[in-house]
Amino acid sequence: MNILFVGDIFGSAGRRIVREHIDHVRRTHGVDLTIINVENAAGGFGVTPQIADDIFEMGADVLTTGNHMWDKKELLDYLSSATPVGQERPRRVLRPANFTPGVPGYGVFEGTTAGGVDYAVMQLQGRIFMTPIDDPFRVADALLADIEAKVIVVDFHGEATSEKAAMGWYLDGRVTAVLGTHTHIPTADERILHRGTAFQTDVGMSGPYDSIIGVEKDLVLRKFLTGMPGKFEAAKGNPKMCAALVTCDPMTGRASAIQRIMLGE
Ligand SMILES: [Fe+2]
Repeated sequence: MNILFVGDIFGSAGRRIVREHIDHVRRTHGVDLTIINVENAAGGFGVTPQIADDIFEMGADVLTTGNHMWDKKELLDYLSSATPVGQERPRRVLRPANFTPGVPGYGVFEGTTAGGVDYAVMQLQGRIFMTPIDDPFRVADALLADIEAKVIVVDFHGEATSEKAAMGWYLDGRVTAVLGTHTHIPTADERILHRGTAFQTDVGMSGPYDSIIGVEKDLVLRKFLTGMPGKFEAAKGNPKMCAALVTCDPMTGRASAIQRIMLGE
């Protein structure tokens, strides 16, 4: 079974490059499950229902987000229309599961692929150099106790490489993959951990690489040089799609391979 996980789509350049490549990547690798992080898909800040729908149309099964989840107010109504049963699209847009209990949205989606394999996608967010939220390790334990699927993919949205490595080893053998998002910089450490979990510290952004993590570089430079506030805008130049392709045994959920993908124009 092959799982394609596409790293954080950033702005219109990110949406365009993913649209350009996703079909041939899914066909070439016989992808059974497609997960895309969309937290910066709307101009670099959050995602709108319309953009989420567009990305579902590209073939995504589940969308994940992160700390920019609440940037677009209209997403709240979309999430509130989700049903616990999980048949509708809003239910397939995840937010980190360790956000404050009771906020809109869900942190886990459980579904079945067209080929009949049960799977779960879980999203967690780190706490190092980020907003204080609940403990992602204990939340992972609690959620895993209720998941029956063997194929489980975790998007760990975090800043610190140490915390992401810790989550990889913590969940090793209990999930199919722990894939990092949020830094927008792909790391060259993709591997299968000892008990069969595929891991990569950060899958990398799908967006404009002539930028500072997606934002127009002159705007960010100005802020670094002057310390003055300014409005950030999504860059457009040199877009690349970054993704991880994970191969696993659908019966056990154990990963056998992970491949890093970076495709430009
Ligand atoms: Fe983020």
